Amino acid sequence: MTTVELRGEVSILTDPIAVAGTAAQWISEQSALVDPFRIALSGGATPRFLYEALASSAFKNGVDWSRWHVYFGDERAVSPEDVHSNYRLVRDALLSKVPIPLGQVHRMEAEAADLDRSASEYSQLLEAGCGAPPRLDVVLLGLGSDGHTASLFPGTAALDVAGSWATRGRADFEPFDRITLTFPAINAAAHVAFLVTGSGKSEALHGFVEGTVPAARVRPDEGGLLWFLDIAAANSLH
Ligand code: 6PG
Repeated sequence: MTTVELRGEVSILTDPIAVAGTAAQWISEQSALVDPFRIALSGGATPRFLYEALASSAFKNGVDWSRWHVYFGDERAVSPEDVHSNYRLVRDALLSKVPIPLGQVHRMEAEAADLDRSASEYSQLLEAGCGAPPRLDVVLLGLGSDGHTASLFPGTAALDVAGSWATRGRADFEPFDRITLTFPAINAAAHVAFLVTGSGKSEALHGFVEGTVPAARVRPDEGGLLWFLDIAAANSLH
């Protein structure tokens, strides 16, 4: 049985809840090291358990939320009240339960009519808050079964955008239109952490190793790359 190696520091946990708890512990520790603590959160189903863990009594009271600045890795072109909104996911699971100052939550306004303009404004906001290139302390990423990450989908123009820290993205499933961080923004981070669970990401993980999927372009310039996997995802690498 061949085992392929993932670039980066890999933690393998028993199940998605254990992944969430371990990732929450690591993020909590990272947030104690710097002030302000600037983190870009991801959407999708996987990180919900992480956000709920951070808001739970196991972590909530041990974190200095006043130092947190929350950014987003991507957002769907829907209202922030829409069930598909990444902001709504993060608000309901985390932001509504912990005292991060509202002015320190930097939502991607992907409901705007002019997505290019909104993406450009977010790029400027990142630069204002994190420098150029924007040095986020943590960028949290998921991995789509097609190997996309954030809203950097296969075969789209967003994959090659340089010179901007956010751009419009295009998914091949609803909601189609997005705003996403670009690879230069992701790769400028101090830490990039993938959360991947389940056996459904096998091809995507192999594609990362082989460099054949968009997520493989995540190569932090100077920062660290971490993986929080459950056994099902890790086994799919064999
Ligand atoms: C999004 C996410 C996206 C997600 C992957 C994996 O807006 O959907 O940012 O990149 O991380 O699609 O999604 P799951 O966690 O639901 O498998």
